[in-house]
Amino acid sequence: MNVACTFTVNAAEVTVEVAPHQRLIDVLRGPLGLLGTKEGCGNGECGACTVIVDGRAVNACLFPALEAEGREITTIEGLLGPGGALSPLQQ
Ligand code: FES
Repeated sequence: MNVACTFTVNAAEVTVEVAPHQRLIDVLRGPLGLLGTKEGCGNGECGACTVIVDGRAVNACLFPALEAEGREITTIEGLLGPGGALSPLQQ
């Protein structure tokens, strides 16, 4: 059974239906279409899926999507530099 989960992604509040087993990376890349978060190893070793959750870097491949409830998440798409230019990390 899916559960509605509301959180902030790149300064926009979103609500998505989340299955209990879903990982944050699945929700970011699936219903939210944020394809900048990549899946490499899928088990917490490579860091390709890193996002910022409440100011801390986490591996989205290990983070349960339901734990995103009420949190602020920043993905690579949310790291724009001054004037909307690409940040050094995006470049
Ligand atoms: Fe490698 Fe998440 S995909 S740490």
